[in-house]
Amino acid sequence: MKRVAVLGATGSIGRQALEVIAGHPQLELVAASSGSHPVDGLAPFTQVGGDPVELLERSEPDVVLNAIVGFAGVTATLWTLERGVDLALANKESLVAAGELALAAQARGGGRLLPVDSEHSAVFQCLEGRDRATVRSIVLTASGGPFRGRNRQQLQDVTPDDALAHPTWQMGPKITVDSATLANKGLEVIEAHFLFGLPYDRVEVVIQPTSVVHSLVRFRDGAALAHLGYPDMRVPISYALTYPERAGTDVEPLDFSSGLTLEFESVDTEAFPLLGLARRAGELGGTYPCVFNAANEVAVEAFLEGRLPFLGVADLVAETLEAVEGAPARDLDELIAADEQARRLAQRGMAVA
Ligand SMILES: NC(=O)c1ccc[n+]([C@@H]2O[C@H](COP(=O)([O-])OP(=O)(O)OC[C@H]3O[C@@H](n4cnc5c(N)ncnc54)[C@H](OP(=O)(O)O)[C@@H]3O)[C@@H](O)[C@H]2O)c1
Repeated sequence: MKRVAVLGATGSIGRQALEVIAGHPQLELVAASSGSHPVDGLAPFTQVGGDPVELLERSEPDVVLNAIVGFAGVTATLWTLERGVDLALANKESLVAAGELALAAQARGGGRLLPVDSEHSAVFQCLEGRDRATVRSIVLTASGGPFRGRNRQQLQDVTPDDALAHPTWQMGPKITVDSATLANKGLEVIEAHFLFGLPYDRVEVVIQPTSVVHSLVRFRDGAALAHLGYPDMRVPISYALTYPERAGTDVEPLDFSSGLTLEFESVDTEAFPLLGLARRAGELGGTYPCVFNAANEVAVEAFLEGRLPFLGVADLVAETLEAVEGAPARDLDELIAADEQARRLAQRGMAVA
């Protein structure tokens, strides 16, 4: 039996995780948390709001699924890795903002860091049992979101409702907007850098509109291994929670008889500048990825509330990155300070604009 804590149990990933746990007799839900929605009775230990670490201390899980959205997930990621408890990580923002601290905590704690993001789960699986010296690069796939193929002019007047209509994935609002701006792919490039220990120039991104190819790994002999399946987050959630067993799911297998075409295209970095900005923040390192994440969170919230146009999201993130002076991310307090400063600058940037 594995005792599982689900943080963010009321969200898109959290609810699918509860379904996965209910279907696996070897998984026992011991704790569930949310930001504000009720979770009473979902699990023996529950908590609404506050620091999720308190819930983890009380419930003593074997594996923590961190499905909180945003920087609010950082403390739970660090606590879990420090304690040597296995971490099934959906909350990519915590690895982006606190990547170096998270890896150091994992090295001390010795637990497993199992990606739940479908792209990273795919790469993780393609890399299993391979000598890292044989890896040339990893290739993260992106659906391109609802605005694939549009130029900047055609993006000027898009609304939150337009951005929330994702073509292939049903997800929470923040990540859905991030998918429309491609900030999500930028966050994933930084996440991949930390998870797989590769420099940024060996983390590629390609558009694959149907999201059937979840990602690929290129090897030095010219071969590329890919992970395929219909887009369904229950697969990577189940894989991470039951690792290394790969328990069964009732997810539909690929149907080749109905004609499966796999098209790829390159990213339009001019129309979607957030991917390049994330890469740049990642390369600068230190607190820059944390700043990128914080400014993006502020901008996405403002866009969803109708206070910022779609193209303003990238502009605000770029201005905030310009305005800060990066520093090494030595401990959580410094990171929280960098996050707060970036949020203040982004808010001020919006007030001036
Ligand atoms: N959805 C996907 O398919 C998908 C795929 C890959 C990765 N991810 C990643 O998974 C994470 C969750 O995404 P999602 O789509 O599931 O988001 P979501 O549907 O918006 O759910 C977010 C969850 O986080 C909780 N939460 C928000 N603020 C919190 C706080 N301050 N403290 C504790 N809990 C808080 C929410 O509780 P309330 O309901 O009470 O607000 C909710 O349970 C994100 O990092 C996202 O990038 C998601």
